[in-house]
Amino acid sequence: MDLKAYLAERRGLVNRALEAYLPQVRGPAFRVVQAMHYSLFAGGKRLRPILCLAAAEAVGGDPNEALPVACALELIHTYSLIHDDLPAMDDDDLRRGQPTCHKQFDEATAILAGDGLLTEAFRTLAAASSRYEGREAALLEVIDLIAAAAGYEGMVGGQMLDLLAEGRKVTLRELETIHRLKTGALLTAALRCGALIGGGTRAQVALLTSYGEKFGLAFQVTDDLLDVEGEAAEMGKAPGMDEKRQKATYPALLGLEAAKEWAKRLVEAALAELEPLGEKAEPLAQIARYLLVRRS
Ligand code: IPE
Ligand code: IPE
Ligand code: MG
Ligand code: MG
Ligand code: MG
Repeated sequence: MDLKAYLAERRGLVNRALEAYLPQVRGPAFRVVQAMHYSLFAGGKRLRPILCLAAAEAVGGDPNEALPVACALELIHTYSLIHDDLPAMDDDDLRRGQPTCHKQFDEATAILAGDGLLTEAFRTLAAASSRYEGREAALLEVIDLIAAAAGYEGMVGGQMLDLLAEGRKVTLRELETIHRLKTGALLTAALRCGALIGGGTRAQVALLTSYGEKFGLAFQVTDDLLDVEGEAAEMGKAPGMDEKRQKATYPALLGLEAAKEWAKRLVEAALAELEPLGEKAEPLAQIARYLLVRRS
């Protein structure tokens, strides 16, 4: 399997669906829709939607069926990036290779663009109900899961803890909680929702949830590593900001080598969860291995 080609194909699928879901730039408030488009289509790996589709596939489902859910996840993720970059949060100027939303527009517009994307995500999910006739219970479960993962018990809570930890020495336990919530929760939800929409058994859903938890943590550890060792031209965002803002990160707490070792252990643990799923989980296995070599 050629991972690069697979990711490119899936990215195309997701991008075409996102274009169809997002409202046109028009109407009296077109400026906010313009800002939503700007951040959503600036680039981005589309990892959360791709994981969602791959999870549906891993349980024997049709990845196309999971597309509305996959798109909702990307809308929420992009909102989180816009808000994460605001001066009141990480105060970053570069995102997805372009000026951050508040730099390109202004702070108020960036806040509203984030709000608009978050709201649109749930509208996309509600609108999808006609596609899941007879399986409304699964869709409702998915909506609940995504809301919980994105909200104060998940990403929003993690972002709060991340900000509260700035400039402070945190324990390994605290750091794991921050990363699990701010990044792991939505990634785990992507896998779990894909598995549910794909019609997975409870056992399959549980395996993909465990994979997601390990993958999610590994993803943020490697994000922390890229902030130390990555290149702006490849990442589309400025490195070195975590140290500048005295963020709680794995390299800061453990050192570079131990952080890399930890990422490797997490990826191995994630891979072990996939074993019972067999061949159909091969894309997920390759995506996990790719975390250790990713440059963006
Ligand atoms: C960046 O996420 C923010 C984190 C949760 C670490 P990604 O690295 O997935 O960003 P895009 O979507 O590719 O821009
Ligand atoms: C961001 O973590 C997590 C969310 C956006 C929820 P970071 O602050 O490390 O992400 P980057 O490095 O700015 O992409
Ligand atoms: Mg942040
Ligand atoms: Mg940030
Ligand atoms: Mg980061």
